[in-house]
This record gives sequence, structure tokens and C-alpha cells, in this order.
Amino acid sequence: MQSLYSKGFEVIYDEMYQTFIDYNDEFEFYSTVLRKHHKDEVLEVGCGTGNLASYFIKNNFNYSGLDYSEDMLLLCKSKNPSATFLLGDMTNFKLPSKVNSILITGRTSSYLLTNKEINSALKSIHNNLNSEGIVCFDFIDASRFFKEIKGGVEVIHTANFNQKKYERISFFNTNSSENMMFNWSAKYYQIENNTKTVIAQDDSEVRAFTKNEWELFLHLNNFELIEFIDRKSYAFDTYVVVAKKI
Ligand SMILES: C[S@@+](CC[C@H](N)C(=O)[O-])C[C@H]1O[C@@H](n2cnc3c(N)ncnc32)[C@H](O)[C@@H]1O
Repeated sequence: MQSLYSKGFEVIYDEMYQTFIDYNDEFEFYSTVLRKHHKDEVLEVGCGTGNLASYFIKNNFNYSGLDYSEDMLLLCKSKNPSATFLLGDMTNFKLPSKVNSILITGRTSSYLLTNKEINSALKSIHNNLNSEGIVCFDFIDASRFFKEIKGGVEVIHTANFNQKKYERISFFNTNSSENMMFNWSAKYYQIENNTKTVIAQDDSEVRAFTKNEWELFLHLNNFELIEFIDRKSYAFDTYVVVAKKI
């Protein structure tokens, strides 16, 4: 199966997601949260191809990024040569020095499949934050999303980038055998001269959450929950969490 974050697909990810996600709006939203808490330094975990990085760097945040895909990071670095990008896993990382805030966007929390991985990620985040540092991340809200996809739902997303056309046909279905998981099968197409060619296929199991779960995970890992912000994202019902290290 083609990996979505490496072996050439990172370029397609980068082009498609610039249609799916309005990164200017993402920056406005997340920078407002950080500024409200007087933070001008940020580590973005799961920084992907650096689309959000560019905005933080342009706006004079002391920005660094971390991702576990070398190919995503190479693209990130080519677009943002002056910034620091680190190869690392969010469930176990150590920065050269602690930071004032950590951001995880694009529903990257969905890749924390087990409670053990969630606790490890929160422990790493805690260890890499200065005292009173904040963590801010989004998650797919199981309470609403699972009602929408119960029984299986097909969703089509299209993207246009520099004369290229992409289409992604997703099939979502609940799978609550362990935690609030769901199955996401996706076929990716490139469309040229009215011809549709499959460029990738991905079948994965990812995790959604309820607010109560995060309240507890944060509490057990020594974070004080500041707020949940209800924020619809391009394909999912999403909440953004803001929490402070205690
Ligand atoms: C959905 S993409 C989001 C990328 C970016 N935040 C955006 O909004 O465009 C998820 C990113 O998280 C990275 N990722 C997934 N699991 C990770 C882990 N355990 N540690 C570090 N990065 C991870 C992937 O390589 C990918 O770049």
C-alpha cells in the first residue's frame, strides 16, 4: 500500500491539502490562541509538509517542527530553509531545549491509537514544555462524527493545484471494537484530460475521541484543561483543546 506521508506521496499530500485546508485561516486561529496565552515560541508536532510553518515563520514566531516522516520533513525544509525541523515520534521525543508551547494540528491526534500511546505522547509533551507551557491540539469528535458515519458513508473531496486535479473518495465506518476507532478507506485519483487514474489507495484505522476522554487523559498527565473550542474542519467534527502544564 502507498504510504500517505512518504515515497513521493508527500508531494501529492502537500498539493491536495492546500485545497482541503485554508492554512491562512489555520494560522489566524492557532496564533490567536497562542497570543492569548502570551506565547511566541512554538513546536509544531506532526508539522507535515510545513504549510502552517511558513505562516508562523513569516509572522516572527520562534517556530520549530517535528515529524516522523523523513520525506515530509525534506519537503518542509525545502519550503522553509531557515527553520528547525526535527525527526521524531510524538510518543517519545526530546528537544534540545524546552519550549513555551506545543501545537498538533490537522487531526494528527487520530494516530494515537492506544491509551498507552496517548499517555506517552502527553508525557513527552509535558517533559518538553517550560513551566506553565501550553499544549494545543485538535481531535475528531466521536460523539458527532460517529453518528454521521454509522453504517458506512462515502465522502468525496476534490482538489485543484497548478492545473492539476485530484479526487479522494473516502469510505468511513465506525469500528468501536477498541476505543472510538473508525475505518477510513480512501482511493486517490489524479484527473487529466477527463481521464481518472488511481494514484494511491489507503486503508487505515484511526481514532476519534470524546471530550471526557481528553479531560481525563490531561488530568492524569498533569495538565490543566483551559478550554475546548468547537471548530468544524474540512471533513470532520473537530474540537481544539487548550491545556496548561501544571
Ligand atoms: C494529517 S497530517 C497533518 C500535517 C500538518 N499538521 C497539516 O495540517 O498539514 C499528519 C502528520 O503527522 C505525522 N505523524 C503521524 N504520526 C506521528 C507520530 N507518531 N510522530 C510524529 N509525527 C507523526 C505524519 O507524518 C504527518 O506529517
